[in-house]
Amino acid sequence: MQADTGVIDPLLDVRAVTQLFRLPSPLPFRKPRVVHAVSAVSFALAPGECLGLVGETGCGKSTLARTIMQVPPPTAGDILFKGESLVTAGPDRRRFLRREMQYVFQDPFASLDPTWRVADLVAEPLRIAGWDRPKIAARVEEVLRAVGIDMARYGARRPRELSGGQCQRVAVARALALSPRLLICDEVVSGLDVSIQAQLLNLFVQLRRTFGLSYLFISHDLGVVRHLSDRVAVMYLGKIVEIGPSDSVYHQPRHPYTAALLGAVPSISRGKEARRRTRIQLAGELPSPLAPPSGCRFRTRCPRAEARCAAEEPPLLADADGHAAACHFPLAEVPSSTAARNEPALSLSPTRP
Ligand SMILES: Nc1ncnc2c1ncn2[C@@H]1O[C@H](COP(=O)(O)OP(=O)(O)OP(=O)(O)O)[C@@H](O)[C@H]1O
Ligand SMILES: [Mg+2]
Repeated sequence: MQADTGVIDPLLDVRAVTQLFRLPSPLPFRKPRVVHAVSAVSFALAPGECLGLVGETGCGKSTLARTIMQVPPPTAGDILFKGESLVTAGPDRRRFLRREMQYVFQDPFASLDPTWRVADLVAEPLRIAGWDRPKIAARVEEVLRAVGIDMARYGARRPRELSGGQCQRVAVARALALSPRLLICDEVVSGLDVSIQAQLLNLFVQLRRTFGLSYLFISHDLGVVRHLSDRVAVMYLGKIVEIGPSDSVYHQPRHPYTAALLGAVPSISRGKEARRRTRIQLAGELPSPLAPPSGCRFRTRCPRAEARCAAEEPPLLADADGHAAACHFPLAEVPSSTAARNEPALSLSPTRP
């Protein structure tokens, strides 16, 4: 915290981060092809804050998350953690800083060694960090208890002897072992039964309170993200197109893409909001990140697109509440009376000429 201004220093500060992947050309003597997976993405995450990151499959969510973890480091831009650049830090310093940032994957069965016992899986990061045995044993029991896994009952089991939900809890315990400040959760409840999803989401809420954690919570499911997030960022084809306080983004989306995504959410909420959403549909395919459209990347699927959208990239402009959208023709605020009257909102059609 900066005492003089009262402004909170971000825990994580992502500055114009770009990640390009060069693919070999299928033909000899041709230029390599470039995947524009993440393009000039910027956002900051405050200590204790949860930022949800949503977008269609292939829009670059996991690439952005992995880039923050420096696997691989960004092609361009900078990532500051607690004010220090992870990009320019030396390997030892980067490893030290990264202990406080942990990544939890979608599939715990793939991320945890199937031959190891639960207690050893959780103990491993502590052993690597040089903790002594009695301290390790106490910490393993503590973090397993925090995620609702009984050490006496499950400590000697292997991942395949656990359910999907239990296994994900073990993966979270392992991530918590070294007291991180930030958890990057990448589709961590996808593929689980709805009731198990709800239990895990409640666990994440509780862990945040207990340990003062910050989250970058990634999901293609807006309902899941909303449950936890203070703010939501919406990604489209490698770019953040809208970001803002959750309530504001969910109730008053400004970017046509966000409105379309919300229209595609199964009715997770009831009442006016759900009725308004059901009439908004996202159609057409995500363009290839090998050749993103000029100007606004969403323009090829946007019914509001005009010539300016092809010529000029819209900047991400924020209002006084920090709700920002990158659109030349953002949606006007929908007065609550309009939502209640069930007026048609927006229909998205496939590629325009
Ligand atoms: N190592 C890589 N080499 C080449 N292209 C890659 C690589 N990693 C990711 N991509 C491409 O980058 C784009 C973004 O992929 P990414 O996995 O980040 O999307 P995502 O939003 O996480 O999708 P999903 O919701 O399916 O997990 C995709 O087009 C993907 O094919
Ligand atoms: Mg992904």
